[in-house]
Amino acid sequence: PKQADENLRSPICCIMGHVDAGKTKLLDFVRGTNVQEGEAGFITQQIGATYFPAENIRERTKELKADAKLKVPGLLVIDTPGHESFTNLRSRGSGLCDIAILVVDIMEGLKPQTIESLNLLKMRNTEFIIALNKVDRLYGWKTCRNAPIVKAMKQQSKDVQNLFNTRLTQIVTQFMEQGVNTELYYKNREMGETFSIVPTSAISGEGIPDLLLLLVQWTQKTMVEKLTFSNVVQCTVLEVKVIEGHGTTIDVVLVNGVIHEGDQIGPIVTTIRALLTPHPMKELRVKGTYLHHREIKAAQGIKIAAQGLEHAIAGTGLYVVGSDDDLEDVKEATMED
Ligand code: GTP
Ligand code: MG
Ligand code: NA
Repeated sequence: PKQADENLRSPICCIMGHVDAGKTKLLDFVRGTNVQEGEAGFITQQIGATYFPAENIRERTKELKADAKLKVPGLLVIDTPGHESFTNLRSRGSGLCDIAILVVDIMEGLKPQTIESLNLLKMRNTEFIIALNKVDRLYGWKTCRNAPIVKAMKQQSKDVQNLFNTRLTQIVTQFMEQGVNTELYYKNREMGETFSIVPTSAISGEGIPDLLLLLVQWTQKTMVEKLTFSNVVQCTVLEVKVIEGHGTTIDVVLVNGVIHEGDQIGPIVTTIRALLTPHPMKELRVKGTYLHHREIKAAQGIKIAAQGLEHAIAGTGLYVVGSDDDLEDVKEATMED
């Protein structure tokens, strides 16, 4: 076996789109959680992170009988808010990811923050997959819980299929107006040039196996170099918050490298007291029970406890001071910029 296959980090996938398109609900469906219903005003107001181990993805996609093996250890999904006031968080999320899911409500089509998200992705040349969500809202839709989308579509009446096709055509046209070619994923023969659309329901799960499989297959097929694990720590602060029993903590996304309990970090010069993660398939931004780790390998969403973190700034990078680096040099270098 090729060395690279065994040394891939988990791809980071950012989920973006207009407010209420169903971003958090889609993640809830995959996680089996209820994060969305616990949100103030049912609006996401922070960036979230959830780790999906490969074995869960394998389980959720087995009906698609894809024989290609999963080479990545899992998938780290970053949830972002769709409300117009959180452009900075969408920008931060899209800056961290290897691939994105752009969620579009099939009943609404493209909306201002869909277009804003699309422009952020275009600006960084980020690959993305479109989740055409809320297919269950098509009048007369017959629920096929968890079914791959082609199977679910075959169960629908001619009327529902026609309704679907009419809306799909409208939305493909709206994307074309933004200079983006799109096509249903199972008809798309030029992935990479034409962006794939996966119809989904976050309520009954149709199309979700397809979405997960496409994400993993596409990233591990086309991004081997980018996903090859590197020892150089690349880490971004998402949030700074006080957690009972831990004091001020930071939630970070470790994009690459390994960090350890006891590591000296900067630019706030301190020592990692505790390295915490939520359980797999649980949201980092939601208070819960945490797992303690001695070390964590990228990619992962992590909560770090240490002295002095009240001075940390969301959106900034964090580095680990290597054993042979001079701490004072590093400190001076960062204070200059
Ligand atoms: P923000 O994070 O605030 O931008 O919203 P969001 O994109 O995360 O959407 P959210 O998950 O909060 O869902 C918005 C509403 O749409 C909720 O009432 C969901 O229950 C509903 N919803 C989401 N997905 C679906 C779906 O596939 N089908 C149906 N029928 N309702 C959905
Ligand atoms: Mg949300
Ligand atoms: Na919402």
